[in-house]
Amino acid sequence: MSNHKLATNALHAGHDVAANGGTRAVPIYQTTSYVFNNSDHAANLFSLQELGFIYTRLNNPTNQILQERLAAVEGGIGAVVFASGTAAIATGLLTLLKAGDHIVASSSLYGGTYNLLSVTLPRLGITTTFVDASNPDNFADAVQDNTRAFFVESLGNPKLDVLDLEAIAAHSKAAEVPFIVDNTVATPALLNPIKHGANIVIHSLTKYIGGQGTSLGGAIIDAGTFNWANGKFPEFTEPSAGYHGLKYYETLGAASYTFKLILEGLRDFGGALSPTNAFNIIQGLETLPVRIKQHSENALELAKWLEAQDEVAWVNYPGLESSKYNVLAKKYLPNGQSGIVTFGHKGGFDAAKTIADETKIFSLLANIGDTKSLIIHPSSTTHQQLDEAEQASAGVSADLIRLSVGIEDIEDLKADLKQAFAKI
Ligand SMILES: Cc1ncc(COP(=O)(O)O)c(C=O)c1O
Repeated sequence: MSNHKLATNALHAGHDVAANGGTRAVPIYQTTSYVFNNSDHAANLFSLQELGFIYTRLNNPTNQILQERLAAVEGGIGAVVFASGTAAIATGLLTLLKAGDHIVASSSLYGGTYNLLSVTLPRLGITTTFVDASNPDNFADAVQDNTRAFFVESLGNPKLDVLDLEAIAAHSKAAEVPFIVDNTVATPALLNPIKHGANIVIHSLTKYIGGQGTSLGGAIIDAGTFNWANGKFPEFTEPSAGYHGLKYYETLGAASYTFKLILEGLRDFGGALSPTNAFNIIQGLETLPVRIKQHSENALELAKWLEAQDEVAWVNYPGLESSKYNVLAKKYLPNGQSGIVTFGHKGGFDAAKTIADETKIFSLLANIGDTKSLIIHPSSTTHQQLDEAEQASAGVSADLIRLSVGIEDIEDLKADLKQAFAKI
């Protein structure tokens, strides 16, 4: 399927119909384990002499189809799925890093990721320098001898900053560290970070890829482009004490990180995706290209409409000519800028809470990327644990309202916001 384009891969990649009983839809293999032919077969699977399924914490045929499909739509050589986007990020970093290592990260990250990097990983001896990603040179300036990764979101949630991925990738290449890009908000239907120099792409599948707000999931897609033998990652070149003395890079080459995520990451941390959730997420992935087009069209029209309302103080959407990220959006997101819009009402903090309380179609909840429209006031909810300065660097002001614009009729969405404004 690798020669096919995105919309075709989203529907077909990874599903060998004949090998799956002629099934047109991807089947759910709801099983924890797999019967070995005999003890020698089992021994060969454990020692990687043969590849096959052992236990669903490591892999599963339904999950495998999702993995191959995600690798195809992102342009990677392999992918591994997890129980949530957070499980993907945590396992991805812990599989790569050890105490004493350092990360350079954009300061505008999803609040949960920011907390992982700023509070939890330091407890394990892994520290992060957060930089203003609008100047790519800040990444180079923050590099230390022990830096082992760059981490960014291609389209920050909720700052909606579009990053100059190619400029940051050039700095990660010079520093000889992997460039990790969370591409959740942009989705592979609008942006492929690997084409712009990312070595590792991460997704919360819970959002646009699943698309219907039914199932948590996460994924890591490996570009297969990073040189793990550059001397900075001995766990990839020395015999692994955790896996039969396996020398990952010598044995698995470009696929080293993908296998390490399965053999050590999933084995040791256990954040496996349930096959039923993999099936639900596959249903979403199949229609992602058409849905994201509608999300993007609705978001742009709503952002323009908000700009024209007297009550509205400011609007942020990378597709707007007024956005300071519009030039980068034209380069990196030419086919649409996804469905998140933020704005402030002239009534400030209190007005923001009233709007979030009074909308009828927009649901007040802590998620993005559902087909249905969603609303939240981050300052009092998702980002309440950050102090004012941290909120500001994450792009959150007291008056900010985040909309995840769904695919309902756009006139109904405008009317819903208008009636909420009238309640202030
Ligand atoms: C950009 C981004 N990355 C990662 C996550 C975490 O994903 P999950 O909620 O599936 O754990 C989120 C969740 O909101 C997110 O917005």
